[in-house]
Amino acid sequence: MAQVSGSADVPDMGRRQFMNLLTFGAITGTALGGLYPVVRYFIPPSSGRAGGGLNAKDALGNDIVVSEFLANHNAGDRTLTQGFKGDPTYVVVTEDQAIASYGINAVCTHLGCVVPWNAGQNKYICPCHGSQYDATGKVVRGPAPLSLALVHAESVDDKLVFTTWTEKDFRTDKDPWWT
Ligand code: FES
Repeated sequence: MAQVSGSADVPDMGRRQFMNLLTFGAITGTALGGLYPVVRYFIPPSSGRAGGGLNAKDALGNDIVVSEFLANHNAGDRTLTQGFKGDPTYVVVTEDQAIASYGINAVCTHLGCVVPWNAGQNKYICPCHGSQYDATGKVVRGPAPLSLALVHAESVDDKLVFTTWTEKDFRTDKDPWWT
């Protein structure tokens, strides 16, 4: 009898779960539908480069406005921004007070720590196991096996836009390992 009672409960449970699923689906669908214009808003216009572009964002998630950024940063500064997949990505200010044409992904190629810039030593030095990268992100000391990944960085309508770096790595003259 207990079995009969138990099996009689199963359809009820199933129906409830099914209704829950429908409700969840309806809410999720509504939420996603509502989000779409918001998401669409944040997709930057294509810069015309292969791979599309991404507006670089500051720590608060705001688009970086190049004129404001340069007004607040000095030549040689390296500033962490949010790049592709949210990866911390350095924006470099050149000696002539412009945005360098490349950004440097700050994720260490050894085990993934975020690598800070050490202005005194003019290198990126990983705090986890001591790997070092020169000012362009080229690995100069292990255990990191590879240089830091690059992205293109450019100003588009005064917004800082990253695009995928698919060409040869100018530091090694090899194909990029990150694509
Ligand atoms: Fe950077 Fe190990 S994670 S050296």
